[in-house]
Amino acid sequence: MEREANWPGPEGLIPALPKDASNASRHTRKFLDEILIEERIIGTRVADISMRLWGKEFSSPVMMPAFSHLNRAGLDHRPMEEYARAAKDLGIVNWVGMEPDEDYAEIAAVGADTIRIIKPFADKEKIRLQMAFAVKCDALAVGIDIDHSIGTNGDVDVVDGEKMGVLTPQDIEAFAGYAHELGVPFVAKGVLSTRDAVICEKAGADAIVVSHHHGRLPFAVPPAMILPDIKKVSGNMKVFADCSVDDGRDAYKLMALGADAVSTGRAILPGLLKEGAPAVMKKIRQMNLQLKELMGYTGVAATDQFDPSVLWYHGRHL
Ligand SMILES: Cc1cc2nc3c(=O)[nH]c(=O)nc-3n(C[C@H](O)[C@H](O)[C@H](O)COP(=O)(O)O)c2cc1C
Repeated sequence: MEREANWPGPEGLIPALPKDASNASRHTRKFLDEILIEERIIGTRVADISMRLWGKEFSSPVMMPAFSHLNRAGLDHRPMEEYARAAKDLGIVNWVGMEPDEDYAEIAAVGADTIRIIKPFADKEKIRLQMAFAVKCDALAVGIDIDHSIGTNGDVDVVDGEKMGVLTPQDIEAFAGYAHELGVPFVAKGVLSTRDAVICEKAGADAIVVSHHHGRLPFAVPPAMILPDIKKVSGNMKVFADCSVDDGRDAYKLMALGADAVSTGRAILPGLLKEGAPAVMKKIRQMNLQLKELMGYTGVAATDQFDPSVLWYHGRHL
């Protein structure tokens, strides 16, 4: 069943905190909000928030989300290209989700460093073809949202009329191997257990995104809660995180908990739908300032120097 449609719509309102206790976004927001930060101000420095990833330099570890379908919202601008433009102008990593090749090509033509996330189609050849197409369009990396196999009716999901499939460890190994043949890193998006992280690491994935994909799994554990455990078993994989990264303070907390970089999604959506790239740039710049401020207050000089011991949760170190 189509669930990417779970977004505010062209009117551009972020939904209020969901009342339904099974909604993972509710627990994710609550957990992030209850993490507190101690100060380490003596001898601190103004932080450098730039980030190196796969041999490239980016201005911030705050990245764009793997969005999709937004060009079909009937607006007078094309949101998918607009946020790619914001990524390019800001010098941050862009991500693109489920888009047909011809639309992906137009987004890629904007020229941002882009990671293409492909659906776990039942048709595995289609995944390989989309991976190869992304590389032809100069993708920074390719990946699959491995958490989009099962739909709300418990059967394999169907998105835009296309049947999804379940990925085995062997499939992940084959796709990672194919990405490497194509010459790009492979990313598994939607990892939410140490078990799956270990499988991805053994399969040769270069990165995972710790994510519940805005609540695909009812009662999903918040990414921030499970991130430290996942980080421990992730070897050399890059560990990214998303879900409810609504400001630079959320980004700080996830980075302190072990994320190498984070994506912000629905928080940029209202501005993106209303005004396009300028509103997205304004929001990301504000997030960057908030991140830099907290880094300065806690003695974190650079984005590879976070320390989880500054975090407190319910009166104890996290
Ligand atoms: C409109 C919309 C489209 C999305 N499309 C995709 C997609 O095609 N592939 C994917 O992996 N995730 C997709 N996502 C999920 C986001 O990448 C992200 O994991 C999720 O929204 C959680 O982040 P957030 O809480 O900051 O929004 C989509 C989200 C939205 C709101």
